[in-house]
Order: sequence, then structure tokens, then C-alpha cells
Amino acid sequence: MSVARHVVPVLQTLSDGVAHRLWHDHIKSQKGALILAVLCMILFSAITSGQAFLVKPALDEVFINRDRTMLWFIPLLVVVLSFIKMASSYGQAVLMGQVGQRIIADLQKRIFSHLMRADLGYFLERGPGPLISGLTYDTQQLRVAVSIAFTGVARDLFSIIGLTSVMFYHDWRLACFAIVGIPLASVVIVWIGQRMRKVAGQSQAQMARLTARLEQTFQGVRQVKADNREDHEAAFAHGLIERLYRLNYKAVRTQAVASPSTEVIGGIAIATIISYGGFQVIEGHMTPGTFFSFITAMLLVYRPLKALAKLNTQIQEGLAAADRIYTVLDREPLVKDATDAKPLQTQGGAIRFERVTFGYQPSRPTIESLTLDIPAGKTVALVGASGAGKSTILNLILRFYDIDEGAVQIDGQDIREITLSSLRQAIALVSQDIDLFDDSVRANIGYGRTDADEEAIIQAATSAAAHDFITALPEGYDTVIGPSGYTLSGGQRQRLGIARAMVKNAPILLLDEATSALDSEAEKKIQEALNRLMRGRTTVVIAHRLSTIVDADLIAVMDQGRIVERGTHQELLQRGGVYARLYERQFADQQPVEPGSEATPSDVRHGA
Ligand SMILES: Nc1ncnc2c1ncn2[C@@H]1O[C@H](COP(=O)(O)OP(=O)(O)OP(=O)(O)O)[C@@H](O)[C@H]1O
Ligand SMILES: [Mg+2]
Repeated sequence: MSVARHVVPVLQTLSDGVAHRLWHDHIKSQKGALILAVLCMILFSAITSGQAFLVKPALDEVFINRDRTMLWFIPLLVVVLSFIKMASSYGQAVLMGQVGQRIIADLQKRIFSHLMRADLGYFLERGPGPLISGLTYDTQQLRVAVSIAFTGVARDLFSIIGLTSVMFYHDWRLACFAIVGIPLASVVIVWIGQRMRKVAGQSQAQMARLTARLEQTFQGVRQVKADNREDHEAAFAHGLIERLYRLNYKAVRTQAVASPSTEVIGGIAIATIISYGGFQVIEGHMTPGTFFSFITAMLLVYRPLKALAKLNTQIQEGLAAADRIYTVLDREPLVKDATDAKPLQTQGGAIRFERVTFGYQPSRPTIESLTLDIPAGKTVALVGASGAGKSTILNLILRFYDIDEGAVQIDGQDIREITLSSLRQAIALVSQDIDLFDDSVRANIGYGRTDADEEAIIQAATSAAAHDFITALPEGYDTVIGPSGYTLSGGQRQRLGIARAMVKNAPILLLDEATSALDSEAEKKIQEALNRLMRGRTTVVIAHRLSTIVDADLIAVMDQGRIVERGTHQELLQRGGVYARLYERQFADQQPVEPGSEATPSDVRHGA
């Protein structure tokens, strides 16, 4: 039957790999509700066909034969059928709603958990935009496709079968003629489906770019305003929006071809049928009831046919979304536990870098054949120019990235052979900017250790010199801070970061510019707090202000991924190398200009 040809593209795409996986992972478990929903839709279609069939007795018995029993019986039947139709439609909607929303929720949970296991590099490469749209937009697209694929197919397919049966029952020649148009239409429909899939993919990618840009702009709005870049940002966003518009418009245009083309084919078919059928009735070969029942069925069959045309494109869009979702789900994290990974056994947290080579891009090493010993309980400071690779060292200790050559060991255990969770449990990080979450101060301080009690939190805050400002907040430790809460100053954020590290109470401490956002008064307090924090822990500290690290047990001076000098503050000063020059320059910067020295304004005036 030609109807079958119409459905073939849909069925083909459903046997497609992604659809198959989707069925096993997320749809199969909802089989019961799905079958019920499909049954509801079959009932719905059967009644639609029945209603078309009823036109014949209504016309022939009531209007032509003037049968009084039929006069009340047929209207009553029509009403009863409408009620059943309503109930089945309601049942279907509720059941599919449940199935569809369940699929969204399950997928979102699965994607989110998977993303949480992904390596840091994955997030940094992509930015949050595409990841967020994958969780929201793609899952939504998929839900639409799934619900259409099941109940849409059930309703439309069975309506078509039922209604064409009515047509064939009345006059098979006429029916054959009426459905000749269908294969013609299906060619158009398959073509449109393919185009839609392509355009949908492009518009999704564009949407992700826009989301990412919006996020960046809104997050960096301070910089935007300070630099008068509002117009520039607007122009940039306009460009992205305009491209999105063009892609969406293209999608609409493609979609818009589908309906009118089936419409024209339908119109021609109807015109021909009226001429032929009218002739049959006039000649007495057919009753008017039969003819009008036929016409009713035929008019009714075009709607599900058109829906089926749209159905294909919607399923294609859903499959494109499923493809993107599975691309995310199939990506194995680059950094993960080895199969026989054991928990880290800490004995003070000595760290050793042995001829470590690492590059964010394989071609260009950021760290080159670096060897560094950080004995347990000691403090090692990393200094050096910006971009020298200091923060990268911390990334490697935390195993945010896997190294290319050599080994990183903690207490003699290669960090690739221990579990990630035990590794990170043993390390507290205070980074260049402290990430605060949309939660209470208390929860933010206890972030690294969920079992910390109130006393531990307050003690940590006190030794981080944060207790005073926290109690001055509107709701003290209950004040919600972070993105949509109370906004803290840079120094306050850092003190929370330090308190967070205190609470975690890990044997290894990594400090990246921990005191950079503080004035010297606060810095002194913080330095004391840090000294308390560092006591008895293995500490790697990065500081641009060398005054903060003069007491370190070892200072390693880095340049372009290598350690070029190492020693204590005194040793390095005596050597008179890179460190000594760095220190002298900073020392000189901090000295006030002496009156009478060459560069004073008064000298300039005298000279003039
Ligand atoms: N996630 C990343 N992906 C790719 N390249 C990176 C990444 N992070 C840092 N880099 C590059 O690696 C090099 C070392 O960066 P790193 O952050 O370690 O420098 P740094 O010594 O901490 O500098 P600063 O003192 O400015 O913080 C730089 O050239 C930087 O551009
Ligand atoms: Mg850095």
C-alpha cells in the first residue's frame, strides 16, 4: 500500500543506531505507559474512521429515507463516540506527558553526572554554553520526537488505515485514485526531512554559541562597562542573533514547503473525485450517503497524512539531538581512575615530580622535563614570570590533566595509580579566584568537607580572619552568597577560600596567589592565618609578591616550563641570579621616592 511508503522513512530512522540505544536506555522501561498511550490513540483513530462511516447512514437513512429511529439513534451515537474520543485523547496526553518528562529528567540526570566526571580540560575547551544547551534544548527536542514517534505514528497511521479502509469499502476504484497522490507527496517529504535535520543541527550549534557569548558578557559586565564596550558587545551579539535568525528562518521555510505541496496534490484529487463520484450518483450506481461518507473519509485522511509529513522532520530533529547527547555521553573522561586504582596512603604528603613533561596541546610542552621534590610538611614556593607554568604545576598535582612523560608521586605513589577521589581528598586548593556557590556562607566554607560541624566552620572562619565580616553580613553564616546572592569583595572571597581549605584539613595545601586581592593590613592577618594553615602540611605556594614567601623552605624559580633556580631566599639572593633580580625590582618598587633624588618633580622644575 502506498501509505506504507509514506512511513518507510520514519521507520528507517527509528531503526537507526541512536534510536536503538535510546530505546534500550530510556524508553523501554516506560513500555507499559507507552503501550497504553498507543492503545488510546488506536481507539481515537478507530472512532475517527467510525465517524466518517456514520455519514452514510446519516445521509441515506435520516435525510433520504426519513427514518425516525435513526433520527435519534445516530446523533446519540455521535455524542457517545465523541466522549470516548475525548477520554482516549486525554489518556494519551497524560501518559505521554509522563513518559516524555521522565525521559527528559532521566537524561538530564545522566548527562549531568557524566559531565561531573569529565576532565577539567573538557569544560575549559567548550565553555558552559554548549553543555547547558545539551542538557536543556537537546533533551527537550528529544522528548518531542519520542512522543510524536509513538503516539503520533499510532494516531496518524491508524487513522490513515481506518479511513482508507472506509474509502475502499465504499468504492475501491475511487480509493485507488485518491491515494495515487501520496507517493508523489512522499518524495517531497523525504527530501524535506533530510534538509531539516541539517538545518536543525546548524541552528543548534549557533544557539550554543549565542548562549556561551551571553554568559560571558553577563559575567564580565563589569569589564564591559569599564571599557565602554557596550556597543561592541551589542554588535557582536546582534551578529550571532542575526545568524540564528537566518538559520531558523531557513528551517521554517523548509518546513513551510511541506504543507502546501500536499495541499495542492490533495486539491487536485478532490476535484477529480467529485466529478467522478457525482457522475456515479447521478447514474444511480452509488447512494449520496456512500459518496459523502467517502469524501468525509478522504478529507479526514489528509490531515494525518500531513501530520506524518511533519512527523518525519520532527523525528529527524529529535534524532539529531539524540546524536549530540550520545556524543557527550560517549566521551570517556581523559583523566579517570585506573582499573586497579587504590586509595592514596598518605604519610605527610611528600610530592615528587620526576622528569615531568606536559603540554595542554601535545605539540607544545608547557612543562618540560621538570624534577622537583617537595618533602612532607615543607613549604615550596613557585615564582616566575606570568605564563611560566606555575598554576600548571598545581593542575598536575591535582591530576586535572595527565602528564605526557615522567611521573608525579605523592608519598611514593604514582598519582595515576591511586583513585582520583582519595587524591583530591588529600589536597586543599586555594586558587587565583575563589569559586563561590549559590548557597549559605556555611555551606561554602564546608564545601570540601560535608561532615564539618558548626564549630569547625566557625573555627576555620576565625583563623582565616573571616569570622568578623561574616557575622556582620545580614544573616551571618546563613547569608546566601555566590552568583545570585550577596556579593563579597575580592579579599572576603579569598578569606572564605582559606577558611574552606582550613575546614578540609588536608595534608597537602596548594595556594595560588592566595593573598593577591588583599590590602597590606588584611594581608598581614591572612599571612598569619595562612601560616597557621600551612603548619604541618606540605604546601606549594605561588606568589607574585615575593615578600610573602621569604620563609619558604625552598623557592623554585620557573621560566618557560622549567625550574631555572632553586634554593632558599637567602641562597638565591646571594647567588644574584633571576630571583635576586626579581626581588630587587619588587623591593625597589615598594620604596618611596626619596626627596632630592634625580627623578623628583622639583628637579625637573629646576632643570626647566
Ligand atoms: N587550560 C589551558 N589550556 C591550554 N593552555 C593553557 C591552559 N592553562 C594554561 N595554559 C598555558 O600554559 C602556560 C602556563 O600557564 P600557567 O597558568 O601555568 O602560568 P602561570 O605561571 O600560572 O602564570 P600566572 O603567573 O600568570 O598565573 C601559558 O602559556 C598558558 O597560556
Ligand atoms: Mg597562575
